[in-house]
Amino acid sequence: MPTWPGIIRTYREFLPVTDATPIVTLQEGGTRLLPVPQFAQAAGIAARVFVKYEGLNPTGSFKDRGMTMAVSKAAKAGARAILCASTGNTSASAAAYAARCGMKAIVLLPKGNVALGKLSQALIHGAQVLAIDGNFDVALDLARQICDRHAIALVNSVNPFRIEGQTSAAFEICDALGDAPEFLAIPVGNAGNISAYWLGFQRYRAAGRATGLPRMLGFQAAGSAPIVLGHPVAEPQTIATAIRIGNPASWKTAIAARDESGGAIEAVTDDEILSAYKLIARTEGIFCEPASAASLAGILAMNRRKPFPADARIVCVLTGHGLKDPDRAIAVADPVVSVPADLAELERHLR
Ligand code: F0G
Repeated sequence: MPTWPGIIRTYREFLPVTDATPIVTLQEGGTRLLPVPQFAQAAGIAARVFVKYEGLNPTGSFKDRGMTMAVSKAAKAGARAILCASTGNTSASAAAYAARCGMKAIVLLPKGNVALGKLSQALIHGAQVLAIDGNFDVALDLARQICDRHAIALVNSVNPFRIEGQTSAAFEICDALGDAPEFLAIPVGNAGNISAYWLGFQRYRAAGRATGLPRMLGFQAAGSAPIVLGHPVAEPQTIATAIRIGNPASWKTAIAARDESGGAIEAVTDDEILSAYKLIARTEGIFCEPASAASLAGILAMNRRKPFPADARIVCVLTGHGLKDPDRAIAVADPVVSVPADLAELERHLR
């Protein structure tokens, strides 16, 4: 099997690149689309459910799809440094892609609210890590101001090349299924990814590579649900720290994706998120981070209200790997049991 060359080389006809664009890649994308029938059965969903397992990207989240484009374009423009505000995954990806091409990365993180795996990635790749006394929205505002004042490329999803790169996931789903699914369920934070998927599905259909379009189903955490509420949330709260965002940058395009596709953007509680997070791990052997499980929690809640048709295909985007946030997994799972090094004692503990 030939090696997957990354999303730019695979989908270059759909992306704004030329032969002169230097391609900075870690061979991202090409992630599995896995059927999850045991999850669906345990959840009482008759429809065919798939997960797009984005945790399989080089840095463990979907951010790599946009970062290969944003960093390639920054390199083309002669940038020596990139910067982002991040709830964690963007910073991990920016740090890795900067390392890959010898650039400097600076990341602004909301202090105390970034999962350990993500922080360790930004640090080991040599990014300058600055923890801000404020939430993601505050950090993004500062990031924009710094990049306006200095010769540093901003690689948040307000950078249009990030969105362009992220369209590739929609192409892959259509390629894997032979057409677009009927429903696409996705967690919503800064709202770039839902916008990118919708753009991708539309572009693929316009090119004759798919015949249909999915209904876009976006899910925010209940304590951080500005789009659902219809106004910004000053102090967003949720255990799903990746989507702890109160004023999404791509708010308008997310609403357009919802409305043009005949979809919905709803809120799911932290309890619903954690229960879906455990269920997919136990029934399918798939480990995603809590924010990713918002897509699963969302379709569970919708299906309870009104079951999805049995012949429908639902693709849930699992945006990040479970190892990103090991503390949460340990907190919600059964505890480790200490046992003396003795056969009889061990046997007493078997269950
Ligand atoms: N899932 C995960 C795991 C994320 O890290 C993010 C966003 C989202 C979902 C939401 O995607 O922002 O495009 O709506 N993480 C950003 C970051 C904010 O800084 O890593 P979105």
